[in-house]
Order: sequence, then structure tokens, then C-alpha cells
Amino acid sequence: MRLANLFATFATFGSLVSTLPTEVASNISKTLRDVIVFPNNTWVENIAVRSNGNLLVTLLNLPEVWEVEPLSGSAELAYSFPNANACLGIAEVGHDIFAVNVGSLSAPGVGAPGSWSVWTLDYNTANPSSNKPTSKNITAIPPAVFLNGLATLPTKPGVVLTGDSFLGQIFAVDIFNGHYNVAIDVPDFKPNATAALQFGVNGIKIHNGHLYFTNSLMSPLLASIPLSTNGTAAGPVKTIAKSAQYPVDSGFQADDFALDAKAEHAWVATNLSNLIVRITIATGKQQIVAGGKSNPVVAGATGAVFGRSWYNRHILYIVTDGRLGDPSSAGVTGGKIVALDTTEF
Ligand SMILES: *[C@@H]1O[C@H](CO)[C@@H](O)[C@H](O)[C@H]1NC(C)=O
Ligand SMILES: *[C@@H]1O[C@H](CO)[C@@H](O)[C@H](O)[C@H]1NC(C)=O
Ligand SMILES: *[C@@H]1O[C@H](CO)[C@@H](O)[C@H](O)[C@H]1NC(C)=O
Ligand SMILES: *[C@@H]1O[C@H](CO)[C@@H](O)[C@H](O)[C@H]1NC(C)=O
Ligand SMILES: *[C@@H]1O[C@H](CO)[C@@H](O)[C@H](O)[C@H]1NC(C)=O
Ligand SMILES: *[C@@H]1O[C@H](CO)[C@@H](O)[C@H](O)[C@H]1NC(C)=O
Repeated sequence: MRLANLFATFATFGSLVSTLPTEVASNISKTLRDVIVFPNNTWVENIAVRSNGNLLVTLLNLPEVWEVEPLSGSAELAYSFPNANACLGIAEVGHDIFAVNVGSLSAPGVGAPGSWSVWTLDYNTANPSSNKPTSKNITAIPPAVFLNGLATLPTKPGVVLTGDSFLGQIFAVDIFNGHYNVAIDVPDFKPNATAALQFGVNGIKIHNGHLYFTNSLMSPLLASIPLSTNGTAAGPVKTIAKSAQYPVDSGFQADDFALDAKAEHAWVATNLSNLIVRITIATGKQQIVAGGKSNPVVAGATGAVFGRSWYNRHILYIVTDGRLGDPSSAGVTGGKIVALDTTEF
């Protein structure tokens, strides 16, 4: 029923295609499915996958992580963090142990200085009757203002990198001892001083010794930087895509993203533009693969991740803010997880 409605929506998409400057993939309509629609006013912010295939999503409007079964869409609260009002980046740091950025916003898009910490949720020590993970406050990061993307550093067990969108810096955090330090601080992470929102480095992912990142409101849109084994920069920033070739609203170019298995493409959530854009790492080519200016299917997309089981490695799970980032455009919906089958692209 829901799928039929989605396809009806897509029937009107053809007329839009010719007005977009970027190449638009022709197979968009076959490939999307809502996994879950949360209640109105739920901002789903980031997403990771457990080894059992379940999805873990963070909320930005509540300090919560939810676990969602990707086939049935059944959902349960995994954890609600104390003394905070928001959760952002999440990544698996050890087998079934997830690190999460937790803190408070003082206004939409504005982080409260001194409110930030990194926590872990551990499913190895989950209570067998409830299956709820054990939580641990790893460390407060007092200098942080807006901890956003988070990625595990594969070369140093127990270390995660976490990006501060306001400071334009990346911290390394050791979850074993709670030590942290500024690992990378480059001009390409900084917010655009003339933009309305002070948002620089946003999504961060690590593949094969390189950190890939988006800058939300400034060029470069997508770039990479080689890493040393301890997470510091081992060379200069390399720009992959300088600026958006797809429609952007309020100057907001890019939110978080997923890399595919061989890091051939970044699948970028573009938040207010309501699009998922696939950027080819080698060439910087940008291709719209889901959504559209007047197509709400991935409205307010905030992040994405690929499945990791045999049945869903090719599925990109996209999270959305239910248009809370831009409620004037068409009214809010519930934030969602949307599954995009990428085999045709
Ligand atoms: C999405 O864009 C809106 C408006 O520009 C902004 O308030 C919000 O912080 C953005 N979302 C994220 C997660 O960066
Ligand atoms: C988390 O730990 C830090 C110490 O690193 C402490 O300052 C902070 O209050 C703790 N947060 C909570 C909610 O317990
Ligand atoms: C910074 O933001 C302004 C205003 O939105 C925009 O015109 C300009 O292109 C941005 N600068 C860069 C380097 O992206
Ligand atoms: C990280 O490694 C680099 C190069 O190997 C070294 O110069 C730097 O001191 C190290 N930093 C930390 C915080 O360990
Ligand atoms: C969600 O909000 C929209 C308005 O944006 C409204 O039409 C809809 O009925 C609301 N849904 C629920 C379940 O409250
Ligand atoms: C769309 O699907 C057709 C047939 O399944 C395939 O030949 C074509 O390459 C696909 N187009 C894109 C843009 O992926």
C-alpha cells in the first residue's frame, strides 16, 4: 500500500528531471521503500548498522538512540542519555560497541558549548531479557561546541574521530582511557563565515587510510585527507567535489554520507535539497539518485549507511529529519529511514 503510494508520487517526477542541471539516474522509482516513519517532529540524524543487521539511529530532537529491524521496521528505544538534548554521529568502535556523540543544542543548529561528550553503547554486555545495551560515558569534551560526524579509526583500536562542525576541528577520542586531543585542524573544515549557520565539517568516514569529509556550507563540498595511524593528517587535503551541481537551499550543500564498499562513490544526504547525490570519488561526478525539489521521499535527508548482511549489502539506508530543518517548505512529516536499492545504479 505504502509502496504503491510512493510509486504514484514518482509518476510526476519526469517533468522535473529536465530542469535539474545534474544527471539524474533513470531508475529512481523502482528502488525506494520506507523502512519506518517515526512520529511527526522526530529528527532522525545519523545511522549505523549492527552485526546482526539491525539499524541504530540517533535522534537530534531527543537524546536517544533507537534500534530498528530493517525488514519489519519494528523499533525500540536502545538508550536515552541524561543531561543532554541531542545525539549525532554514531559508529561501531569494537564488535557490537557503538560510540555516539551526545550533547545539547541551545537553538536549532546551534550547539551549547561545554555540553558535549562521547558515550558508548555495548551490546556484548546487554541485559539478555531486555536486549538493551550497556551505556558508558567515555569522556566529556569541554572545548566542543557541535560534535557532529563520528568515525572509527581502523589503525588504532578503540579510537574514534569526531568532528566539530562549529570549531571546524576533528578530535581523536580513545574509548579505553577517555583521552582526547585535537587530531586535525585544517581550513577546509571551517564554517563559511558569511553563511547564516556556522556549520563546517559534517560527515566523516575513513577508508583505506584516508578521511573523507563534507563541509556543509562551504567549498570543498567533499574532500579527503590522508591519515597517520594515530588519526592526524599525513598529507594535504584533496578536493573531490568543489561545490554542489545539484539544487541547494540556504547554501546548505551537504550533510552526512556513506561510502560504498570500495569507496568508489560517496552517497551524500543533502538535507534541505531533499536529495541523495552520488559523487564518484575518482572524478567528482555528481548524480542525483533519490528525491527532488518537489519530491518529498527523502526530504530532509541527514545521513546514510549501507547494510552489512548478505541480503542488504546493496541497500543504502537513508535517515531524514522529517523536514524539521526547513518546516516552511511543505510542513513537517515524521523523520524516516528509507531503503534505497542501489543495484541498478
Ligand atoms: C539541515 O539544514 C538546516 C537548515 O539549514 C539546519 O538547521 C540543520 O542543522 C541541518 N541539519 C544538519 C544535521 O546539519
Ligand atoms: C560524563 O563524564 C564527564 C567526565 O569526563 C563528566 O564531566 C560528565 O558530567 C559526565 N556526564 C554525565 C551525564 O554523567
Ligand atoms: C559562503 O557562503 C556564501 C553565502 O551563502 C556563499 O555565497 C559563498 O559561495 C560561500 N563560500 C564558499 C567558499 O563556499
Ligand atoms: C601522531 O603521529 C604523528 C606522525 O606519526 C606524530 O607526529 C604525532 O606526534 C602523533 N600524535 C599523537 C597525538 O600521538
Ligand atoms: C503530521 O503533520 C502534518 C502537517 O505537517 C499533518 O498533516 C499530519 O496529520 C501530522 N501527522 C500526525 C500523525 O499527527
Ligand atoms: C536502469 O535499469 C536498466 C535496466 O535494469 C539498466 O540497463 C540501466 O543501466 C539503469 N540505469 C541507470 C542509470 O542505472
